[in-house]
Amino acid sequence: MLQEKLLPLMINPYTGNKLNLQDDVLIDELTGESFEIKDGVPVMLRSEEVTGLNLTYQRRYDWLCYFYDFLADVVAPLFGADKVFEEIAEIMDVGNSDWVLETSIGTGKQIANLLDHGKAAEFIVGLDISYGMLRRCRRNARRWNASLQLIQGNAETLPFQNEVFDVVFHIGGINFFEDKESAVLEMIRVAKPGARLYIGDETEKLLEEQPSIVNRYYQDPGGDIYAAPLEYVPKHMLDVTSHTLFDGKMYLISFEKPNSSEREAEVGDP
Ligand SMILES: C[S@@+](CC[C@H](N)C(=O)[O-])C[C@H]1O[C@@H](n2cnc3c(N)ncnc32)[C@H](O)[C@@H]1O
Repeated sequence: MLQEKLLPLMINPYTGNKLNLQDDVLIDELTGESFEIKDGVPVMLRSEEVTGLNLTYQRRYDWLCYFYDFLADVVAPLFGADKVFEEIAEIMDVGNSDWVLETSIGTGKQIANLLDHGKAAEFIVGLDISYGMLRRCRRNARRWNASLQLIQGNAETLPFQNEVFDVVFHIGGINFFEDKESAVLEMIRVAKPGARLYIGDETEKLLEEQPSIVNRYYQDPGGDIYAAPLEYVPKHMLDVTSHTLFDGKMYLISFEKPNSSEREAEVGDP
């Protein structure tokens, strides 16, 4: 079942058109293109559009999903990685009445972390390209008694209207995205004026220190992929801060989307 609040927020990510719900299918109101809803999860992807690194990681996470929670809960703490959750929760500002989007929610670890730190929200939407990860996330959410609306989609083309979320965040996937710039700009597009945004992933230092067996699963496409994607954050965003977490092994960028009067003041500045 789709949560009622979701449908009015959604668009066809490829045409930008609104969607109508008919039985268990979302239909583009102008083109008639349809998107199935699989066990309550709208599948907002055209398979032929998932290519390059996105396809590689979609497939990889579709089988990694069976081990992901074990790696995160049992193996990562052996290397002190559990500490980073504390640091993330401290930085993220989430309130009870917020509508929150996590792009690349995975099995839901970051949401559990926020809830553990008393940072509950009114409505939480989680999007991921891997259905396997979403299936695990749904199971976890039941265990945590958390109400999440999950969507299968690509973080580079979000299936949401402009300006709907109070908090938009992403942790842990963007280094290996096919198009990081689109992923950042899409997060900003769907954020309300005044919304808080957070983008984090590992740095090269983590790669150097983690066991080489882990690195084998991450294929380095070359270039400076472990750098925080600050170059894609538009100049008019406010309070742009780059935090260093986990002893330099992770970055987290935080910023605020200006409201229109702040934007006008900025544009009017000489
Ligand atoms: C390391 S996991 C992080 C999951 C979660 N955010 C966490 O911190 O535990 C990376 C996630 O990014 C997802 N992902 C990779 N490419 C994506 C894309 N283009 N769009 C959406 N999700 C993507 C993967 O399926 C995977 O679930």
